[in-house]
Amino acid sequence: MEAGDSATPLRYAQNDGERNVILREVTRGIHAPHPCGAALRAAQIGYPAKLSQNLLGKGLFATMECEIDNLLERTPLIALVQAEDAGTAVSTSRALATGGITVIEVLFRTDAAPDCLDAVAREVPEAVVGAGTVLSAAQAEAALEAGAKFIVSPGLDEGVVDMARSAGAPIYPGVCTATELQRAYNLGLETVKFFPASVAGGIPALKALSSVFRTMRFIPTGGVSPANLADFLAIPAVLACGGSWLTPANLIREGDFKGIGKLAREAVSISGKATGNKEQ
Ligand code: 3PG
Repeated sequence: MEAGDSATPLRYAQNDGERNVILREVTRGIHAPHPCGAALRAAQIGYPAKLSQNLLGKGLFATMECEIDNLLERTPLIALVQAEDAGTAVSTSRALATGGITVIEVLFRTDAAPDCLDAVAREVPEAVVGAGTVLSAAQAEAALEAGAKFIVSPGLDEGVVDMARSAGAPIYPGVCTATELQRAYNLGLETVKFFPASVAGGIPALKALSSVFRTMRFIPTGGVSPANLADFLAIPAVLACGGSWLTPANLIREGDFKGIGKLAREAVSISGKATGNKEQ
């Protein structure tokens, strides 16, 4: 088996029960492109704590985080998708992926969010899709069931963190003060969303926080735009920037998905230049 093969988790199964869960998954044709995906899907079909914890213990927890890190290191952008129906979410996500942005956060701000997430996860395989605006552990569970590969919250809530971790999914909680950041640090988190970035002090605040929390990485979101994207990305502790400027409501309403692809390409171009100019 090659690393990344969907059958790879079989190597780590501890007993027949776990092997059966994974095999059921494979035979149901829900292909998991990497071990963490398989762990997550296996957890969803019946053995949540046990299987995912065994996989966590084997270091597979890191796999999804590594995959997202790798994508974000190449293209440090997370696009937010808020849609009232699955078709719109899929068209928007395809446009983003065509424009070069493959880490997509489906916002849990509409009743259709779980359906949107499920549809994007199935129909836009070139993207890694997570859930955003996740406010509670119950919402995190629903997002994971719908196929979320990562969870983003506007704030830091331990129930949400635990739920994501129990499924082996990276969790990026929002913080904007040193106290919140210290809590995140002591929960063992390494990457947080800095939210709302522009009103929480923007670039000077982020530089001050990252000079103290030297191992933390940040995803500034909230008020990021083409005008300040390069400056945020030039901060070494910034892993990526997120924001809704890539998916304006008017373009979605008008079905202008070409326009969304164009915004994505512009942002990819800005980020390519900015990461080449990282401050040392
Ligand atoms: C979020 O959900 O992270 C924020 O709403 C993004 O903020 P923005 O709309 O200013 O990009």
